[in-house]
Amino acid sequence: MRHPGLTIAAVAIGAAALAACNKSANPSAGGGNAPSGPVGSLLSDDDAKKALAALPAPYNTADLSNGESKFALCSTCHTVVENGPNMTGPNLHGVFGRKAASKAEFKYSDALKATGWTWDAARLDTWITDPKVALPGTKMTFAGLKDPKDRTDVIAWLMVQTGYKP
Ligand code: HEC
Repeated sequence: MRHPGLTIAAVAIGAAALAACNKSANPSAGGGNAPSGPVGSLLSDDDAKKALAALPAPYNTADLSNGESKFALCSTCHTVVENGPNMTGPNLHGVFGRKAASKAEFKYSDALKATGWTWDAARLDTWITDPKVALPGTKMTFAGLKDPKDRTDVIAWLMVQTGYKP
């Protein structure tokens, strides 16, 4: 689905980043958060529109630009691109269909580790409505998105940009 030019650019950037890492004087630089491969990039607007149309309803008709602007509330803590770094929160690439608290190099709360959840759109909708209500004891300090349309839009944007597979 990606534009070939973009893929090449992403690989080139990833290779440059790895080369820079190898020259580092400190062998532990990057530590547990070191990406395991080239860092990906966001889909272009055209590819994002195509990916959106392939999503299940109601996400296929969501407003991607509103979703992107609402994700700004999450991006202080989360990256979404492939092999993106963990920050205050874990990288979210491939989150749909993934077991909760399953990124080995991220220190999750005991509460999230104990859930046994698998992330899907419905679970995520409840989660971002108010994480502290969805899961007392979570480390995710986020007030919540109260407007259902904003949640649908941001979930659709996440599906498109984190490599959701129907
Ligand atoms: C202030 C930082 C912060 C913000 C803002 C934030 N998160 Fe998080 N998020 C976290 C932390 C920390 C965790 C780990 C929670 C735990 O271990 O209990 C997390 C966990 C998650 C997880 C579970 C990931 C996994 O691997 O199981 C998802 C999904 C998620 N956040 C989505 C979002 C979305 C979507 C938004 C915006 C609507 C958001 N987060 C906003 C910090 C944040």
